[in-house]
Amino acid sequence: MGILKLEKVGYRYKDAPKDKFVFKDLNFEFEQGKMYAIRGKSGSGKTTLLSLLTGLEKCTEGTILYDGKNLKKMNLDKYRNTDIGIVFQSYNLLPRLTAIENIILSMDVSKVKVKEKKKKALELMKSVGLGDEHAKRKILKLSGGEQQRIAIARSLSYDPKIIIADEPTGNLDKETENEILKIFKRLAKKENKCVIIVTHSQNVCNEVDEIYDL
Ligand SMILES: Nc1ncnc2c1ncn2[C@@H]1O[C@H](COP(=O)(O)OP(=O)(O)O)[C@@H](O)[C@H]1O
Ligand SMILES: [Mg+2]
Repeated sequence: MGILKLEKVGYRYKDAPKDKFVFKDLNFEFEQGKMYAIRGKSGSGKTTLLSLLTGLEKCTEGTILYDGKNLKKMNLDKYRNTDIGIVFQSYNLLPRLTAIENIILSMDVSKVKVKEKKKKALELMKSVGLGDEHAKRKILKLSGGEQQRIAIARSLSYDPKIIIADEPTGNLDKETENEILKIFKRLAKKENKCVIIVTHSQNVCNEVDEIYDL
């Protein structure tokens, strides 16, 4: 069974007219070890769906199941801090901190016990292709592609089963996009993560196991 399952999921913003749904009747299933794209044009509800999957909002119709459990009945702060890692289009790193400090901060916030945080953070950086020389550098002294690698390493800091990315390559050139896609692919295939990428890039869609359209 999928780690994340949507059953007849719909969403209507509170102040919207009664029959005005952003989307309705979504039946998506996501498994570990696979990479997915959620595709939709601007305004189709990608960001809204992302906030449902990450537990920031609750669906107004249907059910989202995480590992068989109804998300609405779970502790959503804990879910966000331990079960799901999020990667943003604009990276959302703290610019005043160094690369490694951003990753360690995420470990601290998650409250997941990590032994030897610094060593683990350096390992994560290595796994996304960055060396010790990048670790001590302030975020703004890193390129866009390097910042996104750090954001991916950060999302892995508490070893979640699911990685969700909102247009993670939207600000990157094609070559860097391909490098980032390789990292996501490895996470799915070698580390058994469930990788979900919200995107309208055809290049991303070509690389995934399954595409869901909004
Ligand atoms: N807070 C909100 N209140 C009411 N409507 C919203 C709100 N946020 C987004 N919407 C509407 O929901 C639809 C989907 O938006 P969004 O999820 O941001 O789409 P996408 O990320 O695919 O561009 C749009 O029509 C948008 O205007
Ligand atoms: Mg959006």
